Amino acid sequence: MLEVRNIESGYGRTKVLHGVSFSVSDGALVAVLGGNGSGKSTTLKTLAGLVRPSAGEITLAGQRIDQVPACRMASSGLVLVPQGKEVFAAMSVEENILMGGYHRRREKARLRDDLQQVYALFPRLALRRKALAGLLSGGERQMLAIGRALLARPRMLLLDEPSSALAPKVVGEIAEVIRGLRGRGISILLVEQNVAMALELADELHILREGRVAHSCVNGPGVDLASLQEFYLGKGTR
Ligand SMILES: Nc1ncnc2c1ncn2[C@@H]1O[C@H](COP(=O)(O)OP(=O)(O)OP(=O)(O)O)[C@@H](O)[C@H]1O
Ligand SMILES: [Mg+2]
Repeated sequence: MLEVRNIESGYGRTKVLHGVSFSVSDGALVAVLGGNGSGKSTTLKTLAGLVRPSAGEITLAGQRIDQVPACRMASSGLVLVPQGKEVFAAMSVEENILMGGYHRRREKARLRDDLQQVYALFPRLALRRKALAGLLSGGERQMLAIGRALLARPRMLLLDEPSSALAPKVVGEIAEVIRGLRGRGISILLVEQNVAMALELADELHILREGRVAHSCVNGPGVDLASLQEFYLGKGTR
């Protein structure tokens, strides 16, 4: 279980998150929605240790992780797939995937198995294993970024807008992969602006507005785009 309690965080003197709280149960898929600049990426960066919270607590399986340096976070089981499909452009697809398992580099046989699993999940990456990552399409780069994260064997995967700037068919493929990962027992925190995708995949939804959780709900009948709209637009309150 990931628990986020009242985190405040930002950049220098600029505070972006003003007391954000939510949790992700083991094996659950929780979505965080919100408009541009609402603090979604800052939330994920804070969880991943890239931005230090100035207040609040973050625990994973009961252990505090808010002081763990970003470079050790993967060993704690929490892995971020950053926004923007960032990959190492000058390295091959396979080298990029293997970078995700760098902290496990002594487990050579298991890494080879995990690499094959990534290729089974994303056959297109297998076809392009020797290609430079910088030459991949947007969809392929998103698959690569997810594949690289899987080499760390995460128990908690943070996905920052995996559907952005992708064709609907590719969004569908990515959604299927996310559903499959969740089926394998990986807990997922999905940040999205694609509300339809979040409604299709998530157990729970939280809407961020100006660095605060404006609304939280369990996904189910009656929860739809229209019912969430007011919280986006600022009319609703928690
Ligand atoms: N590195 C940074 N330095 C200073 N301010 C930043 C930095 N990154 C983000 N911000 C500011 O923090 C606020 C929240 O940004 P954040 O990236 O968390 O939003 P977001 O919800 O992820 O938006 P988007 O949907 O556009 O990705 C914005 O006002 C942004 O300008
Ligand atoms: Mg963002």
